[in-house]
Amino acid sequence: TDWTSGFYPGSMWLAYELTGDEALAKEARKYTNRLQDMQYYTGNHDLGFMMFCSYGQGLRLKPEPADSLILVHSSESLCSRFSPKVGLIRSWDFGDWSYPVIIDNMMNLELLFWAARNGGGRYLYDIACKHAETTMKHQFRKDYSCYHVAVYDTLDGHFMKGVTHQGLSDDSMWARGQAWAIYGYTMVYRETHDVRFLDFARKVSDVYLSRLPEDMIPYWDFNAPELSSGEPKDASAAAITASALLELSTYINDSDSASFYRNKAVEMLQILSSPAYQARNKKDAFLLHSVGHMNKGWEVDASISYADYYYLEALVRLKRLKEKQSVLANL
Ligand code: GLY
Repeated sequence: TDWTSGFYPGSMWLAYELTGDEALAKEARKYTNRLQDMQYYTGNHDLGFMMFCSYGQGLRLKPEPADSLILVHSSESLCSRFSPKVGLIRSWDFGDWSYPVIIDNMMNLELLFWAARNGGGRYLYDIACKHAETTMKHQFRKDYSCYHVAVYDTLDGHFMKGVTHQGLSDDSMWARGQAWAIYGYTMVYRETHDVRFLDFARKVSDVYLSRLPEDMIPYWDFNAPELSSGEPKDASAAAITASALLELSTYINDSDSASFYRNKAVEMLQILSSPAYQARNKKDAFLLHSVGHMNKGWEVDASISYADYYYLEALVRLKRLKEKQSVLANL
């Protein structure tokens, strides 16, 4: 039930895509199929991460007959957490927030868009759009940085406050949260062709890019340097952002702006691919230096499965662009 359970099989699928090595596909399928029972899980909002990064990649690269139905069931389970009154999918059931929605939840909408196109029904598309719109309205500050957690009233649905859980403070910009926003709104534009989302994806990207340190890899929270000069970086946020910016760059008509986003993504990938961030033979991973949950002391300055997943995804995307293919091999 952990939100990260899809990333190991997902990384195996992406590595298979990059290498054609059948042993990787076998490993990917083995760990994908272990998630089968999760299609009926309704205990949190993470079904998109879990199932689309595993079954979604499997369906794309080496499908099995049950994959599609498992993904449709997963999207139904995810939507059981949608409240029409609030206009959002509820993220968590723990904690003392009345109706918490975290920015990470934008990522789970990709599963709904896919399912709406593949037999799950139009309502899944409508829920995904409503969630993206409500989040856009309330979860961002005037400078387009986001709150990690937006708290709503369970009964009448009004926005109560923006707070943090994994960031430095309620007012700070938690690096991975902003990365989820960049990726999330780019993906919602891809699925809807609604230019409001494209414009928003650019705005949330611009604040992130304008505040990056020199080596393009953010501190775990953009405000962390206020705390001390030795705060850890978060390579996972950089990998997620690089993958998203490669896609975003393909939706922008103005060629200077498109190159700007693409070049930023390439720079990030170059730094992530340099000895400073490569695990190579130091750890059983691709990347070093990510932060999972600083406030709880979990995975601080560590290698993490989702940093590797989005790094591989970004490399696949860059390869496709260099080969003059569409950035995504869409499902
Ligand atoms: N979705 C949880 C995290 O980004 O840490």
